[in-house]
Amino acid sequence: MQDTISAVTVDNKSVELAVKDGTIGPSVIDISKLYGQTGMFTYDPGFTSTAACESKITYIDGDAGVLLYRGYPIEQLAEHGDFLETCYLLLYGELPTAAQKADFDYRVTRHTMVHDQMNRFFQGFRRDAHPMAIMVACVGALSAFYHDSTDISDPQQRMIASMRMIAKMPTLAAMAYKYSIGQPFVYPQNDLDYTSNFLRMCFAVPCEEYKVNPVLSRALDRIFILHADHEQNASTSTVRLAGSSGANPFACIAAGIACLWGPAHGGANEAALKMLKEIGTPDRIPMYIAKAKDKNDPFRLMGFGHRVYKNYDPRARIMQKTTHEVLNELGIKDDPLLDVAVELEQIALKDEYFVEKKLYPNIDFYSGITLKAMGFPTSMFTVLFALARTVGWIAQWSEMIEDPSQRIGRPRQLYVGTPQRQYVTEAYRG
Ligand code: SDX
Repeated sequence: MQDTISAVTVDNKSVELAVKDGTIGPSVIDISKLYGQTGMFTYDPGFTSTAACESKITYIDGDAGVLLYRGYPIEQLAEHGDFLETCYLLLYGELPTAAQKADFDYRVTRHTMVHDQMNRFFQGFRRDAHPMAIMVACVGALSAFYHDSTDISDPQQRMIASMRMIAKMPTLAAMAYKYSIGQPFVYPQNDLDYTSNFLRMCFAVPCEEYKVNPVLSRALDRIFILHADHEQNASTSTVRLAGSSGANPFACIAAGIACLWGPAHGGANEAALKMLKEIGTPDRIPMYIAKAKDKNDPFRLMGFGHRVYKNYDPRARIMQKTTHEVLNELGIKDDPLLDVAVELEQIALKDEYFVEKKLYPNIDFYSGITLKAMGFPTSMFTVLFALARTVGWIAQWSEMIEDPSQRIGRPRQLYVGTPQRQYVTEAYRG
């Protein structure tokens, strides 16, 4: 990393700021000493031009539509590997040998059960509670059960907590789904792979044998790979900020789940499917495109646009291919929602508003169609996103904790409120 110097003039005073180069991608101007030297802050609401940290985990080139996990292109990982291999890569930085992979799979598999008292948590929820609300509550509550792995200064405990979260998210997600449909919880089965185990916990019933469809399991496993990490997005930044105070990893991941729930972020997959249902038929698309372009209308095309990608989201392309694979496997010849999605994409990509603003389909545009075809209700879509993103949150949290320069995150502000004034009793308040 080459340090070169760049000068900034503030109130006729020249301030020298270091420029740091990364391995690839944009360099940064180190402004950490700017306030001390000038008495001024930088201002960047939404962090559109701010690098909050150094990281070796994920790299995105938004203009080129490139996504790398530890240097490996997402297309190659999705094509050749499985989700637990991606988990190992994100956590340890290298692809596992066969022995390392077998050991990692074994360790994750043996943490898939949750403490049986977790079942009582569910009894407190309404059956129609949104499963994301249940996930925020239950993941946060994991810290009440695992005091032996909340000492974040102990690398061994950090790794145990990481294993526990990666392993238990599918079990909790399946329990949230089962609870919502009034069916009994299904325990994990250790002779199944990670994603097949999850499908069985969601869709098996005690009355009959459940056979996992290998095509659907492979498709969902690939969907998990696509969602595993994505640099410093809103929920990952939430996890990092929560973790910077020393909060335990379960509480930090619960904060990430809460942030992911928003429709501008991970909640977009649920919102995108609702939008496709509302549009209903291709002839109604022009009306919705007009609404999306109308500044006075809050409507946005859900599943379109991205803070970083100003090109096609590489995950969306793989997602689209997976959608067709799943629909073919299930013998769904014509899905009206897919017809609307394909037509909407074609119209939007030719519309000058979307072209000029570089708005392309993102990962959430096609995922809902696929998950719905697999049998998941829309309320479970963001839960599946959170299940997959847990490894990314954990990897980013660990990287932050292990960074010797790490301090509590504490942004400042531009104060535009009332200057200091004296208290007056009610009689003088007019
Ligand atoms: C995810 O950050 C990540 O990495 C997130 C994620 C991950 O893996 O973690 O990739 C997952 O969250 C994907 C994004 C899912 N969200 C949606 O699909 C919701 C719909 N998209 C938009 O809300 C929006 O595109 C965002 C939130 C994704 C990005 O917002 P930005 O970067 O703040 O962009 P913006 O709101 O400033 O929009 C720029 C312009 C605006 O017009 P102007 O004010 O400049 O005239 O584009 C317009 C917006 O009005 N615009 C849209 C639009 N998205 C942006 N107009 C219509 N439909 C849209 N979808």
